Amino acid sequence: MTETPFLTFPDNFLWGTATSAYQIEGAWQEDGRGISIWDTFAHQPGKTFNGATGDVAADHYHRWQEDIHIMSQISIKAYRFSISWPRIFPDGIGPVNKKGLDFYERLVDALLAVDIQPVVTLYHWDLPQALQDNGGWVNRETAYHFANYASVVAKRLGDRVTYWINHNEPMVMALAGYFFGESAPGLQDPIAAVCATHHLLLSHGLATRELRLGCLKPVKIGIALNLSVMHPASDTEADRLAAQRYDAINNLLYLEPIFRGIYPVDLLDLIGEVLSEVIKDGDMGVIAEPLDFLGVNYYSRSVVKYDPDFQFIQATTIQPQENEYSQMWEIYPSGIYELLSRLKRDYDIANIIVTENGICVPDGIDFDGRIRDYRRIWYLRDHLKQIHRAITEGILVRGYLVWSLMDNFEWNYGYQMRFGLVYVDFETLKRIIKDSGRWYSKVISANGLHVSD
Ligand code: FCB
Repeated sequence: MTETPFLTFPDNFLWGTATSAYQIEGAWQEDGRGISIWDTFAHQPGKTFNGATGDVAADHYHRWQEDIHIMSQISIKAYRFSISWPRIFPDGIGPVNKKGLDFYERLVDALLAVDIQPVVTLYHWDLPQALQDNGGWVNRETAYHFANYASVVAKRLGDRVTYWINHNEPMVMALAGYFFGESAPGLQDPIAAVCATHHLLLSHGLATRELRLGCLKPVKIGIALNLSVMHPASDTEADRLAAQRYDAINNLLYLEPIFRGIYPVDLLDLIGEVLSEVIKDGDMGVIAEPLDFLGVNYYSRSVVKYDPDFQFIQATTIQPQENEYSQMWEIYPSGIYELLSRLKRDYDIANIIVTENGICVPDGIDFDGRIRDYRRIWYLRDHLKQIHRAITEGILVRGYLVWSLMDNFEWNYGYQMRFGLVYVDFETLKRIIKDSGRWYSKVISANGLHVSD
């Protein structure tokens, strides 16, 4: 048998995994942690699958040493985690909770001790409830509180942490949280969603400035956007325009302000009026503060169809039958190549890190105690091939972080969706490295993979 070609990744490629605070930490009332909007939301009946909450989650707050040890076993080089804002500012504003900062400092030091680069996310959707009580992201003040929080964290960890991400997927926060109401804080208010979008973006720029001022060494700052490719469901003019509008809401609403300092012209008829009331002098310049990298979270594509009944955007997504699916999304690896090419073509972005990519499949433990999650291996392999293709064409992808290190609280879906390279038994909290984790370890050690791996 002839050996298939080997795809080598660039030197110093940042191979890693990602998690977020609310999804793994648990210990929701420990060491002075305040309440976040996700605590409030998940505790309301009917909001999550089986009423699941992050009260215990994967208990990472108590098991972080074991989790770092597991990462070492998998040869992980970079670990993206988020800081829980309410651990640092239990009341949103006012005194800093020292125990909260201490926890993350211990985590960072222990990661560095085993040569794992920390990639710190400041906001992965867990706003302190006290700030929500004051309007949350609809209130402009929240953006300044976020900047202050960024400054406090930078002053404590900025002599050690190189990679910083201020926001994770502001689009989900604004749309799912304020428009559809399916995520915390659970509002269904289009005007609030537009205001929240602008203030999230503003806070991104303000926090970027604070991070640069507060960190004691040269750092790399980015934002993690959930970007997708939009394909029209048919070649009719109506579907094509629907896909364009979907693209504007999901991708351009963030890319244009961050990289060009403007809101997308295609959306001005829809949201221009509200925006004109919330944008203040100088805001767009702050939002377009230069970044060191763009974090791309990619899972799937969207196939979009014209739908006159769908409010505002008159577009909806459909699930084409011919392709393969995970428990949540269509599997569409070439979409990541298409997306990376577009980012290069339209924005000439210098550095990209794939900050999330992964799949949920119903993992089962076999008789011998192993978890043979081949579909996850295939998914990761096929996406890595597409990323490699982009790299060979000169697109500067600097790293790849698998979502997720371990199974965790998957928001509304609770614990039924498993994304981990590591299995977590949510009864005993025992961890088992899945076959995908072992496979990934080999990829990292070889700095690449065989086409057939
Ligand atoms: C992303 C989120 C992450 C996780 C994955 C599956 O949108 O950033 O927290 O839920 O999806």
